[in-house]
Amino acid sequence: MERDSHYIGQSSRAATIERFARHVSSGKVDFFRAAGIDFAMGRREGPFLWDVTGDPRLIDCHCNGGVFNLGHRHPEVVRVLLDSLQELDVGNHHLISEQRAALAAKLAELMPGDITYTVFGVSGGEAIDLAIKVARSYTGRPRVISARGGYHGHTGLALAAGDEKYRAPFGPLSPGFAQIPFDDVAALEEALDGETAAVLFETVPATYGMPVPDRGFFPRVRELCDRHGALLIVDEVQTGLGRTGKLWGIEHFGIVPDIIVIGKGLSGGLYPMSATCFRAKYESVFQPDPFIHISTFGGAEVGCPVALKVLELTSDQDLLRNVQEMAALFAEGFRALQERHAEILVGLRQLGMMMGIEMAHEQCGPLFSKVAFEHGLLSVYANNNPRVAQLLPPLIIDRALALEIMDRVDRSLQVIKTIFGGG
Ligand SMILES: Cc1ncc(COP(=O)(O)O)c(C=O)c1O
Repeated sequence: MERDSHYIGQSSRAATIERFARHVSSGKVDFFRAAGIDFAMGRREGPFLWDVTGDPRLIDCHCNGGVFNLGHRHPEVVRVLLDSLQELDVGNHHLISEQRAALAAKLAELMPGDITYTVFGVSGGEAIDLAIKVARSYTGRPRVISARGGYHGHTGLALAAGDEKYRAPFGPLSPGFAQIPFDDVAALEEALDGETAAVLFETVPATYGMPVPDRGFFPRVRELCDRHGALLIVDEVQTGLGRTGKLWGIEHFGIVPDIIVIGKGLSGGLYPMSATCFRAKYESVFQPDPFIHISTFGGAEVGCPVALKVLELTSDQDLLRNVQEMAALFAEGFRALQERHAEILVGLRQLGMMMGIEMAHEQCGPLFSKVAFEHGLLSVYANNNPRVAQLLPPLIIDRALALEIMDRVDRSLQVIKTIFGGG
């Protein structure tokens, strides 16, 4: 359907890029120029996005790490936001709120075990910060252990729990943080002590290139945390909301963490929303002073119906079945691709549709982003492991589109193989 646009395509691609370089980020423009990705996001619908000029059209296999789990501008989510705007605004974060209460109650129903309380935020980093604050306050201990190569955002405590390269330029490091290898029980055993407030892991570390941990890993982590009186915080900002074929990625491992953090996809791609969800006993942290942690826009009332709709859609059994079926299709397709491109393709790291294309060399990830772009796919490489290209299509894709994605990956790998002299 043709319609007049007030917001997209008002400037040419070149003018947009030039203005962006002058007023937003010259570094990003230099980066994308060097990467050969000449693109400014324009129209977006379902699994697709287009350049501001209308061409090219890309299949979104980045999805901002899960923001677009339901595709772009899912019609039901758009409708809920439009309706919500007729009656609500952000609300007052100091007051009792019907909308925040309804959303938190729904999360309590869907979360594993006795995770029945939620504090809302705007970003994933903010929600991780709060999880660490809860753990430190509850235990009265300072230390936080997280994974080397893991990523939890760029805010204060989340940044401190991430890799040094993201914090090095920004002054003195926060004390009390230690990083250990992921999926390494012995390292955790050694690192845990009576001063440890929390152990913080992504269920599958996305920025580290989607290494899927051994099935026994999280049960052992749970045991060790219990033994040492430390809280287990699981970052489900990317793995939550259906991405892995279950509503929460941690369900694959059969344990209940103390705190689960979600963000990205909870927004429906339309209204920012993150959540720190914790077991009932930790609510005591906020008893003496319930205003000790505040977020003006956290859980903005106008966004709560959007997040509720997202929860309804992503917990739907048909959607989860689709993720499992598409995941099986990708697994099978990649086995064939691996035979054809054995020189360059190491394999597919996969938990449902949380997928990483593992390749042979460090240069492969950046090259894949460029070549995939030329073949109509938006895919980024894992920043903390550039051998891996992230493959995160929307969860709503069908069989035909999954096959089309694999065909484009196939042709991209063929080009990469030629560049590396193998094909
Ligand atoms: C696993 C994980 N945790 C936390 C964050 C931080 O989220 P935000 O950018 O909304 O602060 C991200 C962002 O990419 C993430 O991938």
